[in-house]
Amino acid sequence: MHERFHYASLDEVRAEAARLGLDLPLSQSLDVLRQPLDLSGHTLANRLTIQPMEGCDGTAAGAPDELTQRRYERFALSGASLLWFEAIAVVPEGRANPRQLYMHAGSVDAFRALNERVRSLAEQRFGFAPLLIAQLTHSGRYSKPEGKPAPLIGWNNPYLEGDKPLASSCILSDDDLAALPERFAQAARLSERAGFDGADIKCCHRYLLSELLSCRERPGRYGGSLENRMRLLRECVQAAKAAVSPGFLITCRLNLHDHFPYPYGFGVSQESGEEPDLSESKRVVSLLHEELGLELLDFTIGNPYSNPHVNRPYDLGAYRPPEHPFQGLQRMMDCVGQVKAAFPSLKVIGSAFSYLRQFSGNLAAGAVERGVCDLAGFGRMAFAYPQFAADLLEKGALEKGRCCVACGKCTALMRAGGMAGCVVRDPLYTREYKQLGL
Ligand SMILES: Cc1cc2nc3c(=O)[nH]c(=O)nc-3n(C[C@H](O)[C@H](O)[C@H](O)COP(=O)(O)O)c2cc1C
Repeated sequence: MHERFHYASLDEVRAEAARLGLDLPLSQSLDVLRQPLDLSGHTLANRLTIQPMEGCDGTAAGAPDELTQRRYERFALSGASLLWFEAIAVVPEGRANPRQLYMHAGSVDAFRALNERVRSLAEQRFGFAPLLIAQLTHSGRYSKPEGKPAPLIGWNNPYLEGDKPLASSCILSDDDLAALPERFAQAARLSERAGFDGADIKCCHRYLLSELLSCRERPGRYGGSLENRMRLLRECVQAAKAAVSPGFLITCRLNLHDHFPYPYGFGVSQESGEEPDLSESKRVVSLLHEELGLELLDFTIGNPYSNPHVNRPYDLGAYRPPEHPFQGLQRMMDCVGQVKAAFPSLKVIGSAFSYLRQFSGNLAAGAVERGVCDLAGFGRMAFAYPQFAADLLEKGALEKGRCCVACGKCTALMRAGGMAGCVVRDPLYTREYKQLGL
């Protein structure tokens, strides 16, 4: 079923999609990517954005360090109209690794200096500064503040824990959860002080807020009914909004579909966890957009630990994905497009374009043209080829030899406790990969 990437032209990509019975939005013209977009009083210069990509290279105190600066300076020169900064912890115990960024009074100045540098570089090169969003997170089940797992969970999940359930001491109590909105609010306030344009209350990839959306078996205020399961997200968004100026954007990167069995997965059908059922996802979007007034949401699906092919289709890596990567692309487009269609006034960022390498701009343009999303977000491509957006917009094409090859090595670095970057295209990380013995 699975085939490696070998397409030499857009026609070959189209033919492969047709052979599989898929309807990927692919556009020959990239013109739509050059269109500006109005968003909450800002005008975005184009439809290309960089998705949050963790480098695991902050200081021990959680401030951007040398490699963090290098990465965002490269992103500043990408030409993308929006940079969604990687996961930044709101509490130390919720850091996913000892070098994860952490927003607190002691790190805010370093973030401010970084943001000033990013704006100035982009303005010099392109004549505009990208919108800067801080992704605020609690890593929950995947917390590793000292480098070894220290999970803090919403509820046990046999699908993820197998026959070794996590101890009940890992389950955050209702009081623990009730303390978090204030921490997200503080981090949002500090993000504004640090010069970001907005903050994301991260609710994806099964980190804490995302996990809570499926804690159907949890008793109490944060489990059971959907109203309870989305209570913490609601409270964090409300607290963050109350903590910042009216012009500061509060947004959310949201998992629409987890791709594992009900009742443990969110956005999944009760019959088969692998089939999306977006009825609850749409209710969360209704909460965020219609009730709480968020104008922009960044949609994603899957879990990078247990089903990475769903989150970021690839064809090289530790295990062979169980489906053709085009099917993964189609699932992502279908999920994002269905929700965008249900909320036409919402501005939506779509994910997972990098797999198509030199043709990923054609998928991005097709998705925007067809109304799947308003903005196309690139993750791994930004590590491999930071100037991808400028090349798409100015030259109308990507150089094949600079594209991400979806090999999974950036993730392998991260999982091995290293700093993440492109092992294939960036010699610094080729060395890091070798040094870690990978
Ligand atoms: C090394 C690595 C780090 C990532 N870090 C984050 C992160 O901090 N926050 C987040 O929401 N997603 C993160 N992601 C997911 C990406 O934002 C993106 O959704 C995914 O890579 C699929 O998009 P792509 O096909 O363009 O790479 C990460 C992915 C990778 C490979």
